[in-house]
Amino acid sequence: MRRPITTRIDPELCIGCEACVRVCPTDALTMEDEIAVVSGDESLHCGHCVAVCPSDAVTVDGVSSAEFTLADGEPTEVYVDPGDFDLGQLVQLMRSRRSCRCYRDEEVSRAVLNDLVRIGTTAPSGTNCQLWTFTVLPDRAAVVVAAEKVKAFYDRLNQQASNGAYRLFARLFAGDALDRYYREYYETVKEGMRQWEEEGRDRLFHGAPAAILVGSKPGASCPAEDALLATQNILLAAHAMGLGTCLIGFVVEAMKRDAAIGEALGIPKGERTYAVIALGYPAVEYLAPTGRRRVEPRWVQAGG
Ligand SMILES: Cc1cc2nc3c(=O)[nH]c(=O)nc-3n(C[C@H](O)[C@H](O)[C@H](O)COP(=O)(O)O)c2cc1C
Repeated sequence: MRRPITTRIDPELCIGCEACVRVCPTDALTMEDEIAVVSGDESLHCGHCVAVCPSDAVTVDGVSSAEFTLADGEPTEVYVDPGDFDLGQLVQLMRSRRSCRCYRDEEVSRAVLNDLVRIGTTAPSGTNCQLWTFTVLPDRAAVVVAAEKVKAFYDRLNQQASNGAYRLFARLFAGDALDRYYREYYETVKEGMRQWEEEGRDRLFHGAPAAILVGSKPGASCPAEDALLATQNILLAAHAMGLGTCLIGFVVEAMKRDAAIGEALGIPKGERTYAVIALGYPAVEYLAPTGRRRVEPRWVQAGG
């Protein structure tokens, strides 16, 4: 994605260390008379040049490294050098995040939700396009609006899937997707809908008092990856903040197939939602971290 260059180097402040020239991914900077100058016409606006300059000589318009203080006052300005963080603590945090399906009846403040969105945007994005979007359902009422739309979608889908003639018709024109849905999800979804109607139990969002929908605007080079990387940041940060989260793939799937759900939530046409994060303060306490099946990586050996 081509973006006009907005990098400026103050020749009075530049000490000629070349650091900015070395890190620029678009080769937009060169050395001239022992100081760095802007010579290219293309920029990712990634701000690496700003981040490595020891003399504050570089600025990039439109790239804000504006202060990023969290609502609880935690400072975030200090750069952590590679190797200068407690790996054990990081992995413990990652292993302690669980999908939470029991929430306390307690609102999540807008300040906390805002922090989560900002933390999401510290993720990388393809060509640094940052075309991700965050739609916040800030309270239970908003979550229920979404849940009802999604439920209506699955009610319709289950009706179609349970009709053998309809499945045959769908197979002729759209492959075996409806057959597979019928085999793998129909009964579970039917039971979930029954519990919603008869017992008031929310099997979609698990009664979460808030949710964040992460999507991408049209034009992103890697829309799904951008949204999902931001999502993982949010999941980990939420855990650190005392919140439980659960990804809700059932809602993502419904939104993909039924544009009316996004419209009802004010999501513009053309924007696509890749992750739905239900969240709230957990009403369950885990005593052990995640266990995973062991995987063996595939090792590639040159020439072998
Ligand atoms: C893409 C994706 C979609 C998911 N969708 C749902 C869902 O619709 N409902 C749900 O309860 N859990 C959902 N989960 C949570 C998974 O079931 C959960 O991550 C998995 O069982 C592992 O448990 P853990 O997250 O606690 O480690 C989803 C997870 C992912 C990654």
